[in-house]
Amino acid sequence: MPKAVDIEVGEFKKKLDRGEISFLLDMRQEEEFASWRIEGGKPVETINIPQIDFVGEEEKYLSQLPKDREIFLVCAHGGASKYEAELLQSKGYQAFSLAGGMVAWSIYYETSRLAGTPLIQQIYRIAKGCITHVVISNGEAVVIDAVRHIEQIRAILTGQGARLKYVFDTHLQADHISGGRELAQAEACPYLICPADAAGAAYPYQPLIDGDEFTFGACSLTALHTPGHTPGSSSLLMNGKILFSGDTIMETTVGRPDLGGKVEEWAKLLYNTIHNRLKPLSDEILILPTHAASVMERDEDGLVKLSLGEARRTLPHFSLIDQADFVSYVKSTLLVNPDRYQEIRKVNLGLLTPDETHLQELEIGKNLCGMAGKNSESV
Ligand SMILES: [Fe+2]
Repeated sequence: MPKAVDIEVGEFKKKLDRGEISFLLDMRQEEEFASWRIEGGKPVETINIPQIDFVGEEEKYLSQLPKDREIFLVCAHGGASKYEAELLQSKGYQAFSLAGGMVAWSIYYETSRLAGTPLIQQIYRIAKGCITHVVISNGEAVVIDAVRHIEQIRAILTGQGARLKYVFDTHLQADHISGGRELAQAEACPYLICPADAAGAAYPYQPLIDGDEFTFGACSLTALHTPGHTPGSSSLLMNGKILFSGDTIMETTVGRPDLGGKVEEWAKLLYNTIHNRLKPLSDEILILPTHAASVMERDEDGLVKLSLGEARRTLPHFSLIDQADFVSYVKSTLLVNPDRYQEIRKVNLGLLTPDETHLQELEIGKNLCGMAGKNSESV
């Protein structure tokens, strides 16, 4: 009797984490596979045979498939992979299909908690490397860089009995649709973003200005204008100890300054941020970024974090003291700037309102917000 072929994304991820997935057959088109694929904590043998080639010609490809291991098939929406997994099962293969395909993978999240108080939750979008931070102190909460799927954020707030006081976007996102405005509306609290990024926005917002102070529970947040990735990029320093850095500083790189088409100008802003604006801050400060370049950046607790001291020691951008050297280094490390990023920026300004299907298409793929770094080779 054949086994059920469909495996839900949550179970799929657990198997991936446990090392129980050792062979993936990705059935999407070659260019889709080349730009974005399923990534686990450890490398998994993955081959790409587009379904358009595979269907009706299966016999030709069977020699590439192991009979002694489970095979997990993936396609865009989970239909083609299910059909082919059933066919492979009928031929004696242990074949399974990721239900919902890469669309389901794209919207799968995991939440990890930082030890200590206040309560800090990192909501991590596995496929994209996008991170939302929810911070709760004495029944009051702030959310920094809300992802589009806000129901999970609201569930945390409800579960903790917390009242949301502020929603911040550290910058105008280009790789994913922000859920910030929707969350702020739903929870009846202010939505804050720096005017340098929100200029032309089709919605009201509270300007996030350098030096602004915000309190919630027993905590305070200080806004620090850290432009470069975008002109309005801002970081939030909590209690003088934790820096929510947005895309300014990430674990293995810094935010790329070319997504607005003004690389020279924005790279100089970034230089000033790294070498002057952040200079007074202690090495001990813990950085919690909004993006990761790879799931490999998560630690054993599922968290993406580093100290400012580590960033200063390990990221080459801090060693480039001369501005001209810095700018030329930046220019040498740029990745592709996807066309859809310009559309996403317009959506995040409220200038476009695509339907759900198009939103999913816009958000396909890993974030490319950082400059090329040690985990960026595959993007
Ligand atoms: Fe970004």
